[in-house]
Amino acid sequence: MIHIFRKGSDESMPTLVLFHGTGGNEHDLLPLAGLLAPGASVLGIRGNVLENGMPRYFRRLAEGIFDEEDLIFRTHELKQFLDKAAAEYGFDSGNLVAVGYSNGANIAGSLLFHYGGIFRSAVLLHPMVPLRGLNLPSLKDVAVFIGAGTNDPIIRREETEELESLLREAGAEVTMLWGNQGHRLSSAEAEAARDWLKQQS
Ligand code: MLT
Repeated sequence: MIHIFRKGSDESMPTLVLFHGTGGNEHDLLPLAGLLAPGASVLGIRGNVLENGMPRYFRRLAEGIFDEEDLIFRTHELKQFLDKAAAEYGFDSGNLVAVGYSNGANIAGSLLFHYGGIFRSAVLLHPMVPLRGLNLPSLKDVAVFIGAGTNDPIIRREETEELESLLREAGAEVTMLWGNQGHRLSSAEAEAARDWLKQQS
């Protein structure tokens, strides 16, 4: 997969795995990563699917209607890539923090839904429920920060709350931040995520 890995200055910190929004690329969230955890290694991954030339992590049939078969396939593909990247770059695959925005938050959510503690923590910015009807693995040791918008035009409040419940029921510790900047990633969200991440040991 197309990606960028930057080794951080502090090896005791987790590696941030960055998942961009639709139409983005592996570089998009590097500035955010620098704000969230200066000194940490980062792995930015470009989605392997193209929608009208725009990279994404899985196919969709329409806005908010996902191609579930492709979503599952891409989730496993990413897990394999993460294992390969850990071996190649020498980062600790047991100490990963996912940072995802929009479509990237949805694939990060799907990785948690399929692989449980693949990430120690996850910053999900404007996520949806990636899949329904799954028996989730235990997320007992996983902490999740959700940044959401009360007026997000593509994600209903109920859907965000459904995701929050699913994660909590699987044992995750979930912190919510509601803003009113629509589907946009706001600086208030980024700063709150940074402060939250600092508290995760
Ligand atoms: C998705 O397709 O993952 C969501 O609708 C968010 C987006 O527009 O990418």
